[in-house]
Amino acid sequence: MAYETILVETRGKVGLITLNRPKALNALNSALLDEVNQALDAFEADNGVGCIVVTGSEKAFAAGADIKEMASLTYPQIYLDNQFGGWDRVANRRKPMIAAVAGFALGGGCEFAMMCDFIIAADTAKFGQPEIKLGVMPGMGGTQRLTRLIGKAKAMEMCLTGRMMDAAEAERSGLVARVVPAADLLNEALKTAETIASMSLPIVMMTKETINRADEMFLAEGIRFERRVFHAMFATADQKEGMAAFVEKRAPEFKDR
Ligand code: HXC
Repeated sequence: MAYETILVETRGKVGLITLNRPKALNALNSALLDEVNQALDAFEADNGVGCIVVTGSEKAFAAGADIKEMASLTYPQIYLDNQFGGWDRVANRRKPMIAAVAGFALGGGCEFAMMCDFIIAADTAKFGQPEIKLGVMPGMGGTQRLTRLIGKAKAMEMCLTGRMMDAAEAERSGLVARVVPAADLLNEALKTAETIASMSLPIVMMTKETINRADEMFLAEGIRFERRVFHAMFATADQKEGMAAFVEKRAPEFKDR
């Protein structure tokens, strides 16, 4: 498969997508969105892939939705095309996705990173929702995901002023899981992805699905959902293997696919 706006490779059990529109700081145009979904379709269909990493360049994870593509669209056009609807497909993937972010993650770039299950940031990363300066607001989930991740006060301040947050503040605020030196970013993200991919794939996917319920449900319903899925895990061979391996003091060999 030849892609024009992204680079796609598989490293062991990890699928790697590198956003690749360097001249536009990886601005997210509709071609890139289509290609990201095609690459994710292929990774999700491949039982050999256990975790996906999405990254950009040293300078930018992505500087936002493509302003040049969007600037002259009218309300009827953007409504009829359900502009950005394809991002819901990105956000609703079942396999775990890690965003490895260096440089700018602005607007839709920050929102794409937040669609992933967690973010590992380089110490050079800068996050922001500057849409307000363009006369719009975040439109790919940012008002909701940012608020859940960092709380109302900071989300309001960021979305209403458009100011950027550096990596240290992003870690303090709960936006990113971990900050690493820029030179180590891809290796750290791939190592983390390999760890996840070495686990039982169905158990990883069920865990992701269940944690995501925390955002979608009230606590009591979320806890009930967790209990149901936890019970269901005992129908897998991987649960038997994982627990038997612990008791027998050996490494587990997960096989459910
Ligand atoms: C289209 C973009 C772009 C974007 C940068 N470029 N961001 N093109 N869409 N979002 C292009 C520039 O036009 C320029 O192209 C080239 O990339 C390099 O950018 P520079 O501005 O020259 O780089 P620099 O001076 O280093 O500044 C970097 C920057 C700045 C601070 C990141 O580019 C910037 O502010 N970009 C826009 C950020 C933004 O507003 N994002 C939110 C977008 S709206 P040329 O051809 O001139 O060399 C959004 C909405 C999402 O994301 C929700 C959907 C509704």
